[in-house]
Amino acid sequence: MTASTRVLVGKVDELTEGSQTEVKVDGKSVLVVCYEGQYYALRNNCSHKDYPLKGGDVDMGRITCEKHGAKFELATGKAKTLPAVKPVQIYKTQIDGEELFVLPL
Ligand code: FES
Repeated sequence: MTASTRVLVGKVDELTEGSQTEVKVDGKSVLVVCYEGQYYALRNNCSHKDYPLKGGDVDMGRITCEKHGAKFELATGKAKTLPAVKPVQIYKTQIDGEELFVLPL
């Protein structure tokens, strides 16, 4: 993986706790979430139906799909509650100086 494949999310000091930022990685929408001081990146698309996860509630390390309430673990992408059963793809986050990047795992 070369450094050129990574995608800039923004400045770390602007990506504050609770922020949700959408970026494109290889043409796919990826959601970057700041939760309890950590950055997580996952495919911005629920695995149940085609619906964005952006804007969903984040609690206990999970993001809730607003459409039907499925919850996904931020760290693994695993579906934790029905109606979703399949995981969503996760991405790697990387802090470089004052900036945050996302890249495919
Ligand atoms: S579309 Fe996300 S739970 Fe149904």
